[in-house]
Amino acid sequence: MFKKNILCIGAGYVGGPTMAVIAHHCPDYRVVVVDINHDRIQQWNSGNLPIYEPGLSEIVAEALGKNLFFSTDVDGHIDQADIIFVSVNTPTKTFGLGAGKAADLQYWEQTARQILKASSTGKIVVEKSTLPVKTAAAIGRILDSNDKGIHFEVVSNPEFLAEGSAIHDLEHPDRVLIGARPTESGQAAMLQVVDIYRHWIPEERIITSNVWSSELSKLVANAFLAQRVSSINTISALCEKTNADIEEVAKAVGMDSRIGPKFLKAGVGFGGSCFKKDILNLTYIAENYGLFEVARYWEQVVEINSYQQRRFVNLIITNMFNTIVGKRIAIFGFSFKADTGDVRESPAINVCQALLDEKAVLAIHDPKALEGAAQELGDYAGQFSLETDPYEAASGAHAVVIATDWNEFSTLDYKRIYDSMEKPAFIFDGRNLLDHQKLYEIGFSVHRIGRPSLSRI
Ligand code: NAD
Ligand code: UGA
Repeated sequence: MFKKNILCIGAGYVGGPTMAVIAHHCPDYRVVVVDINHDRIQQWNSGNLPIYEPGLSEIVAEALGKNLFFSTDVDGHIDQADIIFVSVNTPTKTFGLGAGKAADLQYWEQTARQILKASSTGKIVVEKSTLPVKTAAAIGRILDSNDKGIHFEVVSNPEFLAEGSAIHDLEHPDRVLIGARPTESGQAAMLQVVDIYRHWIPEERIITSNVWSSELSKLVANAFLAQRVSSINTISALCEKTNADIEEVAKAVGMDSRIGPKFLKAGVGFGGSCFKKDILNLTYIAENYGLFEVARYWEQVVEINSYQQRRFVNLIITNMFNTIVGKRIAIFGFSFKADTGDVRESPAINVCQALLDEKAVLAIHDPKALEGAAQELGDYAGQFSLETDPYEAASGAHAVVIATDWNEFSTLDYKRIYDSMEKPAFIFDGRNLLDHQKLYEIGFSVHRIGRPSLSRI
C-alpha cells in the first residue's frame, strides 16, 4: 500500500527522468507517468528508452513495475492521483497572436481540462513545465470552474535539470523551488510537494516562494544562463580581430569569484529546446506589460546567438576559398550538446543547412543523434549521408567541422583522419574542443572560435 499516488502527465525529457528519480527515492509513493504518445510510453516500458541520458536506464530499470509505471491511460490515472505533475511541452507559438514569441499553452490547457473532467476529488496540480508568469492564475480558474464542489491547488515547481546531466542534476540540485499561494490550502499543498523532495534533498536546498516568483524565476534562470553564453560569444568575435584568445579571457574573467567560471565557453552558439523559447517568452511578457526596453535587452541574447552561428558558417566558407560546391565536409556532432540525442534547436541544424545551401555534401556523424539529423535535414535528402563511424565520415572530406562537444571526438586518431582526407585538410572547431596545436602539427589548417587560426595557407 502506497502512502501517496503521484501522477505525471508528459513522459518527455523532464517527466521521464524526474519521475524516475522521485520513484527511486520515494519507495512509499506510487509514481505513474502518462503520455498521449503511445510509442514513447511503449519505449519507456521496453527498457529501450525514448531518450538518451547517462544513468537513466539503470534508475528506470530499478523502479519500473515496483513503484514506477508508464501508461497511455491519462484519464484512468487522473482520479487516483493525489498530486499531478504536468510536464507537457510549452513550445513557442507558431500562429496568431504572439506567434514566434509567446508560449503555446494549448497542451497545458487541454491537460487542465482533462484533469478537471476526470477528477471526482480535489488535487494538487504541479506546474513542472516552464510557463509564463501568471499561468497558475489561468489554470486555477479553469480547474475551479467546476460544479463538483472540488478544489484544485496549483503549485509551481519548475525544473532546472540540464540534458546530458539530468540524473546528476535531479539527484543533486542546486535548489528545488516550490511556489504556492499564501492561503492555508496553498501552503498545505506546498508542504506536500516539499515532502516528496525531502526524501533525498537537504532542507536548505528546498526553497519556497510565492507562485509568481517561482514561475518567473525559471524563465529568468534560463535567460541569465543564455545571456552568459551570448556575452562570451560576442567577445569571441572581438578576440578574432585582436589576437586575444577567448579561452584565456574566459579563464581570467571567470576566476573572479563574483563572475564564476561556468557558462563562459565560447562556441557555435547555444541550442536546446528551452533557451531561445524561454527568452522569447520573457520578451513577449515584458512587451505585454509595456516594458519595451526590457524586451529589447533580452532579445539581443537571441540575436547574438544567430550572429554567432552565421559567423561560424562564414569562417568555414571563406577559409575554404569561398566555395564549397560539391565538397565533402564531415560534421562531427549534431545534438545540441554532448551526452544527449536531442537535436531541438541544435546549432548544427543551422550550420548544416547553410553549408547544404552552398551545395556542400555533408557526412554527418553523431554518437546519438543521427535519427534527429535525418529528420531535421529531410529537405536536403541526397545531399548528406549519416555515418556511424567518424573515420568513414572524414574519409575523402575537405574539412571536418566540430559542431557538438562530445568528449569522444577529442580522442580520435586525427593522423588517420588527416591521411584519409583531401588536401589541404581543414578542421573548424566550433566548440574549441580539440588539441589544436597537435592537429596543426599533423598538417591540418585549424580554425576555431575566438582564437587565432593555425593555418598553413
Ligand atoms: P517533451 O516534448 O520531451 O515532452 C512533453 C511530453 O508531453 C510529450 O511526450 C507529449 O506527447 C506530452 N503531452 C503533450 N500533451 C499531452 C497531453 N494532453 N496529455 C499527455 N501527454 C501530453 O518536452 P520536455 O523537454 O520534457 O519539456 C517539457 C516542459 O519542461 C517544457 O515546458 C520545457 O520548457 C520544460 N523543461 C524542459 C527541460 C529540458 O531539459 N528538456 C528542462 C527544464 C524544463
Ligand atoms: C538549460 C539549463 O541549463 C537548465 O538549467 C534548464 O533546466 C534547461 O535549459 C531547460 O529549461 O530546458 P540545457 O538546454 O539542457 O539546460 O543545456 P545547457 O547545458 O544549459 O546548454 C544549453 C546550450 O548552451 C547548449 O547548446 C550548450 O552547448 C551551450 N553552452 C552552454 C555553450 O555554448 N557554452 C557554455 O558555456 C554553456
